[in-house]
Amino acid sequence: MQKFVITGGKRLNGEIELQGCKNSALPIMAAAVLVNGKCILESCPNLTDVYSASRILNSIGCKCSIAGNTAEIDSVSVSGNAISEKLMGEMRSSIMFVGAILGRVGQCTFSIPGGCELGPRPIDMHLAAFAKLGAEISENGGEITCRMPKEKRHGGKISLPFPSVGATENIILCSVLAEGETVVNNAAREPEICDMCRFLRSCGAKIKGDGESRIVIEGVERLHGCEYRIMPDRIAGATYLAMTAAAGGAMILKNACICEMEPFLSVLEQSGCYICTADNRIYLRRGGRLRAVRDRIRTMPHPGFPTDAQAVLMAALAAADGTSVFEENIFDCRYRHTDALIKMGADIQVMGKAAVVRGVKKLHGADVEATDLRGGAAMAVAALGAEGRTTIGCISHIGRGYEKFEENITSLGGRISRE
Ligand code: EPU
Repeated sequence: MQKFVITGGKRLNGEIELQGCKNSALPIMAAAVLVNGKCILESCPNLTDVYSASRILNSIGCKCSIAGNTAEIDSVSVSGNAISEKLMGEMRSSIMFVGAILGRVGQCTFSIPGGCELGPRPIDMHLAAFAKLGAEISENGGEITCRMPKEKRHGGKISLPFPSVGATENIILCSVLAEGETVVNNAAREPEICDMCRFLRSCGAKIKGDGESRIVIEGVERLHGCEYRIMPDRIAGATYLAMTAAAGGAMILKNACICEMEPFLSVLEQSGCYICTADNRIYLRRGGRLRAVRDRIRTMPHPGFPTDAQAVLMAALAAADGTSVFEENIFDCRYRHTDALIKMGADIQVMGKAAVVRGVKKLHGADVEATDLRGGAAMAVAALGAEGRTTIGCISHIGRGYEKFEENITSLGGRISRE
C-alpha cells in the first residue's frame, strides 16, 4: 500500500488550475444513461470514482471511454438493468445510476451502495421517492429490485424530509423521461445538482427551479446528445486554499467557481487570510498567523458551510491562535480525521456534533492513515503546515476525489512524494 510522505513547514506559493467537479461528474455520467445519443463531457476529472462510473456505464451496454479529461458516453443501446454488488460497493454515487436506469429502462436491480464511512448513509429517501413515482420495490437477500413499467411511470409531488443531495438528483433522473410533471419540495440546492440539471437541459430536458428548494420537472419523450463542460470542484478548491492557509504563503486558484465557494471563502477570511477574487480566479495570501474563527462553524446544506470542507478547514485551524468550534450537522461520523490531527499535536475535543479546536502553536509530523476522502485530504493540509515529516497511509481514499494531488502540491512548492 502506497503512502504520501509530506515534509511540512514550507510556505506555499504559486498557482494551480482547479479540476472538474467529482460530485457533478458522477451524477452527470449517470444522467447520460437517459440520453438517446452520444455525450461528450469536458473537464471530467481523472478519479477512481469516475472510472467506477465508467465501469457501471459499460456494464449496462453504454459505451463510455475516457481520454485525458474528456469522457465520451454513447447510450444509444442501453441493454442492462442491473448493477453488480461489486460495482455498487465501489462508491456512494452508484445509487445515482439506479434513478437513471429506472428512468430509461423501467427496471433496476442493485444492492446497497458503498462510499466513505461517515456514519449511517441510508437510501430510504431515494426508495420512497421511486415508489412515489410509480416504482414497485422488492428485496431479496440484500438485492433490491425496482420495477417501473412504462404504463406505471408518472410524475408526482415529493416532499423530502431533509434536502438530500443524492435523493434530489435521483428524483430528477427518474422523472426527466416520465409522463407529466414532478415537483420536488425541500430539494437540496447544491451547485452540483444545478450542474447536472444544466447538462440535462442541454440534452433537451425540461427542469426548472434547480438551486432553489422547489424543483419542477416536466417529462419529455427523449433526450439528445450534447457536449458539456463540467463545473470546477469547489471542495478540491477549498482543500488547496486550506493548504496555503495552513502553511502560509500566497496562491492563485484558476478556473474557480467563486460564488459556489463563497460560504467557505468567508470563513477563511474570518481566520485572517487575505482573499481577492476576479473573473474565475481566487487569490489567497496568509501572512501572519491564522486566527480562530469566532462564530461556530456549522455544516449545513448549501448555501451553508459545506460538510465536505469541514475537515480541511479544521486541519488549518488546528494551528490558529484561539479556539474554533465546529458543529457537524450532515453526517454522524465525520470527525474520524481528528485522531490523526491529535497525533500531529492538535488539541481537539469531540463532543457529539461539536468539535472544539484549541489552536496550538505548531503541529508536528506523524504517521497517520487516511480515514476517508476529505479526512485524508485534511491530513495533507495539516502535514503541509506542520514541522517535520508526515506519512499518510490508505491514500486510495484521496485518489477518489483529487486529481493531480501531488503535482498540484508540488507546483505550489510543497514537499510531497509517494513511498
Ligand atoms: N440521508 C438519509 N436517507 C437518504 C439519503 C440521505 O438519511 O435516503 C441522510 C444521510 O445519511 C446524511 C444526509 O441525509 O446524513 C445527507 O446526505 P445526502 O444524501 O445529502 O448526501 P449524499 O448524496 O450521499 C453528497 C456528496 C457528499 C456530500 C453530501 C452532502 C456526492 C457523490 N456525494 O452525498 O460528498 O458530503 O452530498 O453535501 O455527491 C464527498 O465528496 O466527500 C462526499 C461525501
